[in-house]
Amino acid sequence: MPVHRIGVIGGDGIGPEVIAEGLKVLRATGVDFETVDYDLGGMRYLRDGTILPDDVLDEWRGLDALYLGAVGTPEVPPGIIERGLLLRMRFELDLYINQRPFVYAGPPVTVGGGGAVDGSAEIDFIVIRENTEGTYAGEGGFLRKNTAHEIATQGSVNTRHGVERCIRYAFELAAARPAKHLTMVHKTNVLTFSGDLWDRTFAEVGAEFPGVDTAYNHVDAACIYFVQDPGRYDVVVTDNLFGDILTDLGGAVSGGIGFASSANINPNGVSMFEPVHGSAPDIAGRNLANPTAAVLSGALLLDHLGETDAADRVLKACAATAHLTGSTTELGDAIADQL
Ligand code: IPM
Ligand code: MN
Repeated sequence: MPVHRIGVIGGDGIGPEVIAEGLKVLRATGVDFETVDYDLGGMRYLRDGTILPDDVLDEWRGLDALYLGAVGTPEVPPGIIERGLLLRMRFELDLYINQRPFVYAGPPVTVGGGGAVDGSAEIDFIVIRENTEGTYAGEGGFLRKNTAHEIATQGSVNTRHGVERCIRYAFELAAARPAKHLTMVHKTNVLTFSGDLWDRTFAEVGAEFPGVDTAYNHVDAACIYFVQDPGRYDVVVTDNLFGDILTDLGGAVSGGIGFASSANINPNGVSMFEPVHGSAPDIAGRNLANPTAAVLSGALLLDHLGETDAADRVLKACAATAHLTGSTTELGDAIADQL
């Protein structure tokens, strides 16, 4: 394999700490790669106003992958870095799939039970979250702002093209897994326009995959099943906002958000890998964050680059160390030692 060129955005808060451990583990696999560091995020913005320059975006298009820690800091008002950096990255690089795997085989971790209701506590599912549309698209605005009659709207943008490519990706993924099962999650009983488009598209694309069994859950019911019976899921496909919320819940029931990894994928371009968690300013700089989510995101990155053997070894190393407690660097060392 040629040397992989990876752009690294440590970001804010615990981002740089967990990414350092992720890179330590990636290096321990023996896979050859070069890194290019990008100093971006809330702290950089506070320093000189930079959020995401166009020439940086152009550089990223020429790399093999991007590896991001977390961005956002309480000193910057909400939305500026999220929209200007993270969402802009997802939109401009057309990272239309947000793939978030949840695997857990330990004792139940939530009051609701966690694990499967039959007590086997087996969780092994992947959420495919549409990543470029929905309420995240930025449609809407204010009228009469700062008056007593102020109006704020925030629409959900759903294109046939965007919904279809996301659903097709989910079907292809489900078809390649042993269980071959795909659940669509939406709120078709209330969102009768966007839900209808998702519903029809799901049925039409599904006709191309007769080998995949399907189910549908309203998102509120899915929240119950995620907690009480997550063993029922194999692949889940849903829109951007439902997927955002459901994947935090998925993390909570499968070992904790410190284990939740994600891939922001453009199947025809550069993709970006990041833990599901945020910058956690409350524990930043104290060597306290669990780096496993960042390490597992590194495994997704390896897999995406075709380094499947190295990816498998990282997964196994994380499984072997999942019971350990320790500092960020201790856990990173323990995972790297396994390799
Ligand atoms: C995530 C995060 C982001 C999102 C935020 C930071 C904009 O919560 O990746 O899940 O809402 O997508
Ligand atoms: Mn989120």
